[in-house]
Amino acid sequence: MHTNVNQAWESSRRRFLVWAVGGLSTLGAALVGMPVLGMLLAPALQQRHKETWVDFGPVDAIPFGVPRMLTATARQRDGWYDQTVRRAVWVVRSEQAGLTVFGPRCTHLGCAYRWDAGRNQFACPCHGGTYAITGEVTGGPPPHGLHKLAAKIEQGTVRVRFVSNGAAS
Ligand code: FES
Repeated sequence: MHTNVNQAWESSRRRFLVWAVGGLSTLGAALVGMPVLGMLLAPALQQRHKETWVDFGPVDAIPFGVPRMLTATARQRDGWYDQTVRRAVWVVRSEQAGLTVFGPRCTHLGCAYRWDAGRNQFACPCHGGTYAITGEVTGGPPPHGLHKLAAKIEQGTVRVRFVSNGAAS
């Protein structure tokens, strides 16, 4: 009788020890692993919405009242991925409003549009979308006007803001 009680107690004690050692091991691994995991993921998480300002050259090279397409290369970092990307924008310079900068893609399905000087409008070749020099839709299927990008002039250089995923803000 005593032997059975002792065996049951011993078995229960063993199960508890196995559970306790397993639990402590898991807890230890988590305590060690969490900072390492955080360190590995931090660059990807931190860069998610980082903005970058890209230089597009001297403002004096842009004529007043005539849209000009400008291009530049910029470094883009997305998490661990670091690459050089080509950026393009349309810039309208006016004496009154200063600079207005548009993203280079039509807001319908993303085709590249161009300035049609003869018709005094931006025109998209894909489905006939048109925009005024102010970026507002004047015809065709685009659901809204051209995307405006934040821009500034620093020491005579046009600088345009992009976010790390490449979208304009
Ligand atoms: S993509 Fe420009 S009109 Fe359709």
